[in-house]
Amino acid sequence: MTTAHNRVAVLHGVNFDILERRDPSFYGGRSLSELEHQIEGWAREAGLEPLFFQTNHEGEFVEYMHRLPELADSSIVNAGAWSHYSRAIADALDVAGLPAVEVHLSDVEAREEWRRLSVFDGLVLAKICGKGPDGYREALELLAAELGTSAG
Ligand code: DQA
Repeated sequence: MTTAHNRVAVLHGVNFDILERRDPSFYGGRSLSELEHQIEGWAREAGLEPLFFQTNHEGEFVEYMHRLPELADSSIVNAGAWSHYSRAIADALDVAGLPAVEVHLSDVEAREEWRRLSVFDGLVLAKICGKGPDGYREALELLAAELGTSAG
């Protein structure tokens, strides 16, 4: 059920449409729809109403973020490689002004140097990485606490 202030937009960026084809040692081999299905169950357990969005086009991602205040009360952002260089996406997240958590499936701190930089630094409640799908569960729990919508 949708109640006021319990909507979480789960945003995936570039290359997540082919998640099942990416290196399974980093990304687990599952498809985006399988991942979203898992996230949906966890969101409902946390009393949150999820909505999902993915695009490979930076401008579309930015435009979706422009609409975030009318669509959602919070967001989880895994912008893929854009996380490391797209100041435009960071600016759009800032304008949205909603509580947000950054998630990465892989441990971006332990990979190439360029993946350590995040454009969302200072804009998000937390950056969760290296925990696979469980990172989204943790992000949902953080947002549920922030929004005060815990199911239990
Ligand atoms: C990623 C990490 C990024 O560095 C990479 O470009 C991705 C996926 C992750 O979920 O681990 O596309 O965001």
